[in-house]
Amino acid sequence: MSQEFAGKTFLIAGAAGFVPGHVAQFYLERGARVIGLDNFITGTRETIEILSAYPNFTFYEQNIYEGLPDLSDEKIDYVLSLASPASPIDFSRIPLEIMRVNSEGTRLLLELTKDKKARFLEASTSEVYGDPEIHPQVETYWGNVNCNGPRSCYDEAKRFAEAITMSYHRRYGVDTRIIRIFNTYGPRMRPNDGRVIPNFINQALRNEPLTVYGEGTQTRSFCFVDDLVRGINAVLMSDDPTPFNVGNPEEYTIIDAAKIIIKALGSKSTIIHKELPEDDPKQRRPNISKLTGATDYRPQVSFAEGLQKTAEYFRNLSLRS
Ligand SMILES: NC(=O)c1ccc[n+]([C@@H]2O[C@H](COP(=O)([O-])OP(=O)(O)OC[C@H]3O[C@@H](n4cnc5c(N)ncnc54)[C@H](O)[C@@H]3O)[C@@H](O)[C@H]2O)c1
Repeated sequence: MSQEFAGKTFLIAGAAGFVPGHVAQFYLERGARVIGLDNFITGTRETIEILSAYPNFTFYEQNIYEGLPDLSDEKIDYVLSLASPASPIDFSRIPLEIMRVNSEGTRLLLELTKDKKARFLEASTSEVYGDPEIHPQVETYWGNVNCNGPRSCYDEAKRFAEAITMSYHRRYGVDTRIIRIFNTYGPRMRPNDGRVIPNFINQALRNEPLTVYGEGTQTRSFCFVDDLVRGINAVLMSDDPTPFNVGNPEEYTIIDAAKIIIKALGSKSTIIHKELPEDDPKQRRPNISKLTGATDYRPQVSFAEGLQKTAEYFRNLSLRS
């Protein structure tokens, strides 16, 4: 185990979640202390069990928009705002919880960061670009978001989270970073998460038809979670408070991604089409040249390799259940 972050404490909001759980493990494996907060609205207790195997991990079960635990005796160096449901199935199920965690939850984390003189990182999203008219998306593009459509609870909440982060930076000089995460996949996603890669992999493993919305000509780029975690760390350790795209710029149509997964997993699945949901973005691909110019970040995991690692996780999961 490396000691790169020995003596540093990271507060990770959303630690039971998919991305935050991997981020927590990254820092624990490098000697840091991690304090995790989560209310399990979309996270799992299994992730907290994995993290609890590290002696430097402390966990509080807490809804962060209702208040933070008493951390007055703690020295905290980094506050990572990663708590938010992120799957489209959650947008209709828990829209107000999404809006509250990204607004009041983020504000409380920023207040804590200010008190502790720590560094803050907001996990924003490619959804701030909405259905983009600029392709690939660069950080200077302001987006094309429907402010009252079915995705607006998430898209607008994240735009607010970016705005309040920059307001704390400008008004109080809080040391802040913002990342815009593009579609990320990997082990420990929920099998019924509703996002495209776990959907396709689980359907393929069961030899069921893969569900493609619309013709499947809409494009996405897919980042393996280990690459995202490296990107998050690169931005956190940089000195630039303005937003960075983090993702993998390889772009696939959804129909091609479905075919690749069927072939890679040796599945007998066919493909069925369902109606395209309202406001579904037609194109999604990050321009990551700001990040690769400022840091040594480069995505390292190919789609083929990431798919196999993710499929292996879901195969084991189905054997256990
Ligand atoms: N995975 C992606 O592709 C992706 C893309 C863009 C942005 N993001 C962002 O990354 C972060 C993590 O996403 P994820 O995909 O890992 O989602 P996730 O749902 O697996 O993780 C989010 C975690 O936050 C917790 N949480 C939510 N509301 C909370 C509250 N009020 N109090 C305490 N905990 C709460 C959930 O229980 C969950 O454990 C989110 O901010 C998300 O918006 C993810």
